[in-house]
Amino acid sequence: MRLAQTKNMHVRNLIRKAYEVITPYEGVASVEDSLLKSSFLVVMEKGKFFGVLTPSDILEHPHRLVIDCLRDKPHVDYEFKTEPVLRIMKENRTSVLPVFKGDELIGVVTQDDITDYLVEYRKDLQQEVAERTAEQTRAIEKLEQEIMKRERAEAEAKARQEQLIQADKMVSLGTLVSGVAHEINNPNNFVILNAPLLSRIYKDIIPLLDNYYDEKGDFMLGNFQYSKVREKVADLLEGIYEGSQRIKRIVEGLRDFAREDPADLSGSMNINSVVEGAVTLLENLINKSTSNFSLDLDENIPTVKGSFQRLEQVVINLLQNSCQALPDRGRGIHLSTAYDESTNSAVITLRDEGVGIEPENIKHITDPFFTTKRDYGGTGLGLSVSSGVIRDHGGTLNFISTPGEGTTAVVRVPCEPKEMVCDSNVRKPAFCGD
Ligand SMILES: Nc1ncnc2c1ncn2[C@@H]1O[C@H](COP(=O)(O)OP(=O)(O)OP(=O)(O)O)[C@@H](O)[C@H]1O
Ligand SMILES: [Mg+2]
Repeated sequence: MRLAQTKNMHVRNLIRKAYEVITPYEGVASVEDSLLKSSFLVVMEKGKFFGVLTPSDILEHPHRLVIDCLRDKPHVDYEFKTEPVLRIMKENRTSVLPVFKGDELIGVVTQDDITDYLVEYRKDLQQEVAERTAEQTRAIEKLEQEIMKRERAEAEAKARQEQLIQADKMVSLGTLVSGVAHEINNPNNFVILNAPLLSRIYKDIIPLLDNYYDEKGDFMLGNFQYSKVREKVADLLEGIYEGSQRIKRIVEGLRDFAREDPADLSGSMNINSVVEGAVTLLENLINKSTSNFSLDLDENIPTVKGSFQRLEQVVINLLQNSCQALPDRGRGIHLSTAYDESTNSAVITLRDEGVGIEPENIKHITDPFFTTKRDYGGTGLGLSVSSGVIRDHGGTLNFISTPGEGTTAVVRVPCEPKEMVCDSNVRKPAFCGD
């Protein structure tokens, strides 16, 4: 702490020990000049102290000798503090007082010195206050930063913990799903194989049953009259077959979702071929859904590393969603590819003029099993699988949607690093062959 001084300090620290001394019997005229210069003179003779002479002392009456001018001024003790000394000065209308230690004169103290000290003290005090305020402000700022840092760390830790819990849940869900998918798949295979067989058998049985009907008249089959169910049975068997196909698709979706084997991502491909492949596969659905489909492929996109089949599956899933979102054939779907040089990535943009996604749903659309199409057989796995595939490729999948106007899906996948050009006119990089 710098502030060693106090407002009310001992005068011993302010004593002047060097001063001009005159004798009491000098003529006033001879000391006038030095008195005006130094503002006081100490009057002594042979070690005896007579008093302190100030300009006002000689102005009061016309005198000849110094001794006649001396007024009786009190002495102050060197242990006195500044405040009582100033009071004594005021009471005695003088600006200088002698200071004693016991019987010994040790100097004088002036009003100017005390005032200077107090002014200095005040300045110091102000500076001290300013420094302390700045110090406190700095400490508060530091504390605020600490609090913010801690809050951020806590939020990050919480988010990480939630991610871990989520990841853990997903692993359990994946295990459960793949188990269920396997269990459903086996019995469903019987249905898939046997339903067409039963259809064929029934087709061959019909003429026999017709003969029987012609001979014996109508008869009952499972509580139904033959004449009534004759046409229905084929539809029932067809329904069983279609149902089993739907179960198969759902099981495939579940398996994609729970797939544990890492995909082979070492392939190198042109992203346009991936998009074209998906469009070809979905040609029928696209034609059925819209009369306004456009495809715009950028020919200058570097190759992408990854799995052709999985990336194609992503485009298929997105295209299917767009087709399913269109309320009539007049609404369009626009699919395009582009190259983003700044991030060296291939960009697939799919814009549809469908029903759009409600704001409260958009954050859930990539959650497994989230679907608004449950009544039409949606499993809610398409985007969950797709976002996993894109993540595995080091890319991103984002959606922008306005309900009633449409949805835009944007896929970004990193391109392979650009090849070095081995031109004979250019200095060759170390790894270029001759
Ligand atoms: N282009 C789109 N327009 C409107 N809604 C969409 C679009 N794409 C996705 N959605 C919404 O996101 C949900 C989840 O989509 P996702 O593809 O994961 O599942 P799904 O299409 O419902 O079922 P599945 O794809 O498994 O058959 C959809 O149910 C739908 O509500
Ligand atoms: Mg879908």
